[in-house]
Amino acid sequence: MLKEKKISVIGGGKMGETLITRFLSTGTLKKEQLFVSDKHESRITYFEKNFGVKGSTDNTEVVKEADIILLCIKPQIASDVIAGIRESVNPDQLVISIMAGVTLKQLQKSFVLPLPVIRAMPNTPCEIGAGMTVLASGNATNGKHIQRAEELFSSVGKTMVLEEKHFDAVTGLSASGPAFIYMVIEALAEGGVKCGLPRDVSTTLVAQTCLGAARMVAETNQHPAILKDHVTTPAGCTIDGLLKLEEGGLRVTLIKAVDEAARRAKELGKE
Ligand SMILES: NC(=O)c1ccc[n+]([C@@H]2O[C@H](COP(=O)([O-])OP(=O)(O)OC[C@H]3O[C@@H](n4cnc5c(N)ncnc54)[C@H](OP(=O)(O)O)[C@@H]3O)[C@@H](O)[C@H]2O)c1
Repeated sequence: MLKEKKISVIGGGKMGETLITRFLSTGTLKKEQLFVSDKHESRITYFEKNFGVKGSTDNTEVVKEADIILLCIKPQIASDVIAGIRESVNPDQLVISIMAGVTLKQLQKSFVLPLPVIRAMPNTPCEIGAGMTVLASGNATNGKHIQRAEELFSSVGKTMVLEEKHFDAVTGLSASGPAFIYMVIEALAEGGVKCGLPRDVSTTLVAQTCLGAARMVAETNQHPAILKDHVTTPAGCTIDGLLKLEEGGLRVTLIKAVDEAARRAKELGKE
């Protein structure tokens, strides 16, 4: 479905680059199908030099080329950027926004024209094709639009279509989540170091342990508590470790982290 389509990425920052890199490396898009715009000329040169992707510092220039407009700018500047491009868009174009907190209603209102708009919430593991992207579609979209968005984001990992009411929670969980997990990985690796393991060995052991545990949850469909019980032998070592985690309030802390990140996502759309 994307073969003949042109995609313009507005905002060539971290996420813009992650997505472009992966669209190209998986063969989902050819460089001729991509355009990028950014405030910084240096970023445009960077994309042209490293990926052969053409671009401009003028958002309206790249919007004119596009079948799909991918908004990868910060939520705080969303209304200004949209105000700058709305005269250049038409209802045959599909707009996909990855901005945290900016609702479909706000996006549709800012564009004025009744454009098909989709919200996508990816995360940084998209960089290695292990991302999680949740999609929600606005009023003027049809099945083909959603299919196109799914195809695009399937190249960077898993996709799921949900109602928009879940988006702040999704942002707090799967979009912010990698940072929470990195902190857990870092802390567990320190645990290995405390017990005498070299740091690189410790980090490798933790990363593979997290990968294995995540795959067990995803692939066996067993409740994490049951999987945890399988590791925990009576009067063994694991139960002593778990006791320390409970004492330190790990569960409550992680629940609060997701809740707080989701609260901030809601707030961002209003700034
Ligand atoms: N990072 C994540 O894990 C993640 C996950 C899911 C969704 N998101 C969403 O992805 C979006 C982008 O995040 P990011 O981390 O990639 O941000 P970023 O690195 O700041 O990228 C945005 C880029 O757009 C540029 N820019 C600023 N004003 C512009 C304008 N008027 N026209 C065109 N480009 C402009 C920025 O330049 P300056 O740096 O000079 O401002 C920057 O290069 C955000 O809305 C965020 O909510 C992020």
